[in-house]
Amino acid sequence: MDVAVLTYSGLPQLDSFDAALVPALGELGLDARPVIWDDPAVDWRTVRLALVRNTWDSHLRRDAFVAWAGKVDRLTRLHNPAEVLRWNTHKRYLRELEAKGVLVTPTVWVEPGGTLDVGTLLRERGWDAVVLKPAVSAGALKTYVFPRAEAATATARVAELAAEGDVLVQPYLTAFETEGERSYIFFDGVLSHAVHRPPTLLSAPRGFSEPRAFTPEDAAELKLAESVLEAMGRPLLYARVDVATDNEGRTRLQEVEVTEPRLFLSLDAGAPGRLARAIAAKL
Ligand SMILES: Nc1ncnc2c1ncn2[C@@H]1O[C@H](COP(=O)(O)OP(=O)(O)O)[C@@H](O)[C@H]1O
Ligand SMILES: [Mg+2]
Repeated sequence: MDVAVLTYSGLPQLDSFDAALVPALGELGLDARPVIWDDPAVDWRTVRLALVRNTWDSHLRRDAFVAWAGKVDRLTRLHNPAEVLRWNTHKRYLRELEAKGVLVTPTVWVEPGGTLDVGTLLRERGWDAVVLKPAVSAGALKTYVFPRAEAATATARVAELAAEGDVLVQPYLTAFETEGERSYIFFDGVLSHAVHRPPTLLSAPRGFSEPRAFTPEDAAELKLAESVLEAMGRPLLYARVDVATDNEGRTRLQEVEVTEPRLFLSLDAGAPGRLARAIAAKL
């Protein structure tokens, strides 16, 4: 097999936004197939390249996933590489990017076992509402919004989350409700396409409900996205930079997804071919 397109047992035929990759690789003469990442029957030495795509149970079993990646990386070409997957599956990477000068959504970090008085934080920062989320998460799992009036409940929730690991506490960005977030998708360091996305937090109000492609026109925002790639140090086969507007109107990095981002290939006619060619260049 030339390319194993990695997915998980809950989605054996790949995400519908990204399924077009397999035929696009086929057009280049490559034998590409969906493969379940933790299928013990796979001999990774017979795979020329393994592409992490829809491994969407990995955040539930991060240690196992990171250990698996380390093993597979030695047997075949794994993209993105194991070291990148380890780095990106814990949101502490945001602190590192911030230290390199990237404007990140303001975040207060609570260490494992720690506590934080949310009422005091809201007063000190002048925030009206907070978002709490675990540092190891995806798809808004265990992500909560609390208004000022529920600060005491939020304080208790922080302690509950921190009993399991690091917690991020951020101001609730109201722009999510109208414009959502913007995702810039890069293949091998080159911008492919951009998508407006509604909140993944299902309880959040939203101005639109389906992701849609847009033409990037905001030069400063594009520069922010590119600066994130630079700060990561090397071009990766795939990267999705998610940005959002903060409550003061500035664009902030929300996250960079270089593990298993949905790439919205079906929203841009040229995207499946561009990714397929970037993959072929690695073989
Ligand atoms: N600071 C924030 N303000 C408003 N909504 C947020 C904020 N942070 C997260 N959310 C909501 O939670 C969802 C998931 O958060 P995100 O940081 O993207 O983590 P992940 O995608 O890894 O679960 C977002 O799509 C958004 O709906
Ligand atoms: Mg997200």
